[in-house]
Amino acid sequence: MISVPIFSTRAVNTPELLRPAFDRVVASQRFALGDEVERFEAEFAAYCGARDCVGVGNGTDALEIALRALGVKAGDGVVTVANAGYYASTAIHAIGAAPAYVDVDPQSLTLSPASLSDALSKLEARPKAIIATHLYGRMADMSAILALADEAGIPVVEDCAQAHGARFLGQGAGTFGRLGCYSFYPTKNLGAIGDGGAVVGSDAELVARVRRLRQYGWGDKYHVVEAGGRNSRLDTLQAAILREKLPHLDRWNAERQAILARYRDGLADLVRFPATVEAKQADVAHLAVIRLGGRERNAVQAALGAAGIGTDVHYPVPDHWQKANRNYLTPVLLGETERASGDVLTLPCFPGMAEEDVEHVLSRTASVLAEIQPIAATTSPGAR
Ligand SMILES: Cc1ncc(COP(=O)(O)O)c(C=O)c1O
Repeated sequence: MISVPIFSTRAVNTPELLRPAFDRVVASQRFALGDEVERFEAEFAAYCGARDCVGVGNGTDALEIALRALGVKAGDGVVTVANAGYYASTAIHAIGAAPAYVDVDPQSLTLSPASLSDALSKLEARPKAIIATHLYGRMADMSAILALADEAGIPVVEDCAQAHGARFLGQGAGTFGRLGCYSFYPTKNLGAIGDGGAVVGSDAELVARVRRLRQYGWGDKYHVVEAGGRNSRLDTLQAAILREKLPHLDRWNAERQAILARYRDGLADLVRFPATVEAKQADVAHLAVIRLGGRERNAVQAALGAAGIGTDVHYPVPDHWQKANRNYLTPVLLGETERASGDVLTLPCFPGMAEEDVEHVLSRTASVLAEIQPIAATTSPGAR
């Protein structure tokens, strides 16, 4: 029987690709920061179209450090969405700040400019920052979000952990807001073989603050000049590996895009796909997510599982419903976020996925979706 995992990193982590990175790092005997990290920072900044890049320990730290660099402090409010895996919420809570959740656009599932506008007019205290998350490889509506943020005088941080290489109106993810945050978790479009992250930016003073905050708040070695510092360095070996992989990123992104395009074509009559908010946007297809339109998700997952197809849910619990938050936050109602959390399903999509596996996922998913009908007519495909 064909067995297709939800994700495989095999094609992007071949020994041939990784070995030169190991060899260089071992030869240099430099295992923290150093030349490999500096070179990766320069290469990744150039790839994104940012002036600078600071390598950090992971994507969540990138968000926390970016917020700290912008002056977010305990007790401050930070606007974010609640459908992106709690990563931004983790970063906000780590500072002692509070998330002010805003709903997502029903089509794109990214930060809704209408909800943002509404929230900005109603929040008692002005939030200190807005995190715009680019989800599933597609960017949030940065023109509309920046217009609202600029008018309110609030800095925007982009969460680009699912959008390496994505562009909006020709401009790279992470270069719209004051700072852009990336994760190099192994399954990301550009993934390390462990944890890794980066903050990109073009404001020299702000980037310098990020650089100090990632290493104890040091200005010069052993001289702490910035409060709130961390030890969150991008590992040298991971940086060397990311340098080997970066030249292949566009090709791997194209592979993911081609698989998603096949699913879109083949399943168009059966389910909706989260849609791009802007025609001139270039997606990178991080995850192949469908909206089940009222079908019972467990039943669909079980039927696909029986056909050897791995699936996942990104994400099943919205941030404001997470148990740890129950007694902490003012209750909020986020209709589109809540609807999506019950309705999204992720299909296998990764570089190196065999043609017969794509075909198997497509044909089996089409039959399963045709067999399992939506429970409520009001949430059938196309309905909103
Ligand atoms: C949207 C988003 N933001 C942030 C993160 C956090 O990255 P990390 O796992 O490297 O901390 C991830 C992934 O894990 C993510 O998908």
